Amino acid sequence: MRSATLELLIHSSSVTTETPISFKKMFAVHLLAFYFTKLKEDQIKKVDRFLYHMRLSDDVLLDVMTRFQAEMVKGLERDAHPTAAVKMLPTFVRSIPDGSEKGDFLALDLGGSKFRVLKVKVSEDGKQNVQMESQFYPTPKEITHGNGTELFDYVADCLADFMETKNIKHKKFPLGFTFSFPCIQTKLDEGVLLSWTKYFKVRGVQETDVISSLRHALRKHKDVDVDVLALVNDTVGTMMTCGYDDQRCEVGVIIGTGTNACYMEEMSNIDLVEGDEGRMCINTEWGAFGDDGSLDDLRTEFDREIDLGSINPGKQLFEKMISGLYLGELVRLILLKMAKKGLLFNGKISTALRTKDKIETKHVAAMEKHKKGLQNTKEILMELGLTPSEEDCIAVQHVCTIVSFRSANLCAAALAAILTRLRENKKLIRLRTTVGIDGTLYKTHPQYPKRLHKVVRRLVPNCDVRFLLSESGSAKGAAMVTAVACRLVSQRKQIDDILASFELSKENLIEVKNKMREELEYGLKKETHATATVKMLPTYVCGTPDGTEKGKFLALDLGGTNFRVLLVKIRSGRRKSVRMYNKIFAIPLEIMQGTGEELFDHIVQCIADFLEYMGIKGARLPLGFTFSFPCRQASIDKGALVEWTKGFKATDCEGEDVVDMLREAIKRRNEFDLDIVAVVNDTVGTMMTCGYEDPNCEIGFIAGTGSNVCYMEEMKNIEIVEGTEGKMCINTEWGGFGDNGCIDSIRTKYDKEVDEGSLNPGKQRYEKMTSGMYLGEIVRQILIDLTNHGLLFRGQISESLRTRGIFETKFLSHIESDQLALLQVRRILQQLGLDSTCDDSIIVKEVCGAVSKRAAQLCGAGLAAIVEKKRENRNLEHLKITVGVDGTLYKLHPHFSGILRETVKEMAPQCDVTFMLSEDGSGKGAALITAVAKRLHNVGEN
Ligand code: BG6
Ligand code: BG6
Ligand code: GLC
Ligand code: GLC
Repeated sequence: MRSATLELLIHSSSVTTETPISFKKMFAVHLLAFYFTKLKEDQIKKVDRFLYHMRLSDDVLLDVMTRFQAEMVKGLERDAHPTAAVKMLPTFVRSIPDGSEKGDFLALDLGGSKFRVLKVKVSEDGKQNVQMESQFYPTPKEITHGNGTELFDYVADCLADFMETKNIKHKKFPLGFTFSFPCIQTKLDEGVLLSWTKYFKVRGVQETDVISSLRHALRKHKDVDVDVLALVNDTVGTMMTCGYDDQRCEVGVIIGTGTNACYMEEMSNIDLVEGDEGRMCINTEWGAFGDDGSLDDLRTEFDREIDLGSINPGKQLFEKMISGLYLGELVRLILLKMAKKGLLFNGKISTALRTKDKIETKHVAAMEKHKKGLQNTKEILMELGLTPSEEDCIAVQHVCTIVSFRSANLCAAALAAILTRLRENKKLIRLRTTVGIDGTLYKTHPQYPKRLHKVVRRLVPNCDVRFLLSESGSAKGAAMVTAVACRLVSQRKQIDDILASFELSKENLIEVKNKMREELEYGLKKETHATATVKMLPTYVCGTPDGTEKGKFLALDLGGTNFRVLLVKIRSGRRKSVRMYNKIFAIPLEIMQGTGEELFDHIVQCIADFLEYMGIKGARLPLGFTFSFPCRQASIDKGALVEWTKGFKATDCEGEDVVDMLREAIKRRNEFDLDIVAVVNDTVGTMMTCGYEDPNCEIGFIAGTGSNVCYMEEMKNIEIVEGTEGKMCINTEWGGFGDNGCIDSIRTKYDKEVDEGSLNPGKQRYEKMTSGMYLGEIVRQILIDLTNHGLLFRGQISESLRTRGIFETKFLSHIESDQLALLQVRRILQQLGLDSTCDDSIIVKEVCGAVSKRAAQLCGAGLAAIVEKKRENRNLEHLKITVGVDGTLYKLHPHFSGILRETVKEMAPQCDVTFMLSEDGSGKGAALITAVAKRLHNVGEN
């Protein structure tokens, strides 16, 4: 500029063709211009020198950008987060609007320069269409510096007033709350205020959830019915507002009263939130950048003075160098200092210039206005009681420029860091993106946007950034967030409704217990036994072990998850011990569901292999046969299969004696002979196994593939067996409970579907609600239903989901484990071929939880009926008893046993029940029974 003027002068002086008069005149004009320029230049130099520290070169800005990148990483990391200055708060906003949002919403917009209540109507009519009505309400100091109750009451009052004015009080509205302060969120409709910033300092709000406070205040208005669904920071609201018009928008920036930014971060980088697919918006709260001293080298004495005079000293140090609340005051402090040094106003200082906040950001903007700026400066300074010279005005204007330029520079550096992070996250060489932006400083300062854009583009040349001004404020975006929340709420409700059908009230459980008790009695009575659904099968086991059992036995264990052959060596007396050797054999599905002959031939084949394996081929050992199906016994070594249950369906077996079938198969093989002494249900085997350790064990319970209980009953109560002395073990076969429809009221449509798809429709209804073989199937039916409703797996029913039996007990147990992170649950589901999101995984886990909880409660109610019966049998006020338990569900599931125990306690308070896990399986018990039977048999023979 200077050299141009000089050139002009020289050029002018060399013009000789001009007349002397006009030449003189021109010369005077140019001279004046020269002096003016010189004068201006001197002032600018003076200010530049004085504010040297505030002028940031691109190198410094690149350094700030690098520092901010490191801050972001820190804030996102689990371990570093607690001490990070830049908090990087998860917002639980997971996507930009996609145009499917619709509905009428209310919005509150609190925390910027103005408080607003709004009604936002989003219609989905092909083209995007949003209508807004709003009203501003004042926020006087009594409110911004009062107490929390007053603040939220005031907000609620304003909302009520707005609804009254708009005549919409009769209608229920979802509401989005733009609350422009740092909040820790664990979900969309919760936000614990970290600290107040800007000009708010309300008592008793910090560290509390502002959503519950708002809800609480709203409850006082009986005629207002709103559902507060989302808490949204203004940056997020801005990003969403702009995102509605430009799908590329993935950053929101506010440069207003305060300053801040949010952006879409990869879930896998957010340690504080479980899950790793997709993205979530992070509210950086960049205003706090430097609060740990990391910007101290850039802060000037004026920044320190601003901070000391603020309501939150030591906090929001970056914000205090940038945002509208502080810019005017920064300028005032600088002018005051310059005046004091005699660099301005001839060293004269007015009272106004000494008074805090007398210069505001709007003044700074006016002073920097193109053309009218100097005139404005003069007027503003005069209003401050000063008498500025031309030079003063030029200098003051330049102070404003330096302060506001630094603000734009610093914002640009932090924004450049975010853009770089986005580009790197996406592994792109060039990023094309949109930044949604709002705030009075950005909107009203004449040069601010231009400067900001230019510096950003210089700092990140590999990003093509579109800056999109949010014309309609954050509330429109908040409405978009609320719309998504609304959809989620309605989906949640559908899921809750489905899961509610699995909840059992105390009354339900008492009814189950009472019904079970009735059915137990029917099964024991002569006239009703034949038609009873709970079959109450006598087992001819008349006592629990007494420690005198001894010998070497073979045992078979058929009907649970595994088929085993065992060799059991029992010693009695002082060196009492049981040693076991066993081998697991597979039973292929085609054999389980083939002919009876094939099944028993296969069993004998396995025995032969075992004998060979143990090197005891020729030995004729007594054998106990654990056969975990209902058998009608006439003695300990006779048992006619009543009907197959669980996964077995071999032909020509039902009604036949299984001991005979086994004997015949041995004969057919004609290789070895065995002495089959006892046929034993797994419940009985379990009771005996545990009874060997604890004589108080008079109940055996299996919660495994199937579900069943046996217990020691008084002979006098067993009408179908001769004799009234002593006790006999009854295999209840409670799995058939409900086959007469008596618990249909608590069966869900999913139970019915599982039943219909089973090998034995209409049978074992209680077992199908309580045991491992069916729980996974119930879960699968629910998941299919949820998927059909579009609530899971993106509405896609996969081949795996159509496959019967995918959810084995061990998977259910694994999924429900408390230690398991969501990602692991998701991995399990993926192993099962279910391509699920983390949200899906949460739902699947809940479904499993509801189904297994009901199973445990039902078993608890059933067991309560049994222990109560035993207590009454013995006429006791109080019964102490042990239940021997086995089965994969009980053993593997993380919550089943706990809920079971709790339910028994609640349903049978007069019984003190100890659960004893059978460590060695039923085989040991079967051997013990065989030992007793053998002894009795021998006694009889003798
Ligand atoms: C507005 C938003 O447009 O911008 C507010 O709706 C936000 O929520 C504000 O706080 C930021 O600017 P200022 O200047 O009002 O603080
Ligand atoms: C085993 C017993 O420990 O548990 C079997 O030895 C019994 O006899 C089984 O059938 C029940 O559990 P699951 O889960 O294998 O059916
Ligand atoms: C302050 C608040 C922040 C907000 C910003 C802009 O920095 O802490 O939450 O976004 O001001 O209003
Ligand atoms: C089935 C059988 C029963 C067995 C139970 C546990 O209910 O019918 O006999 O005890 O499964 O394995």
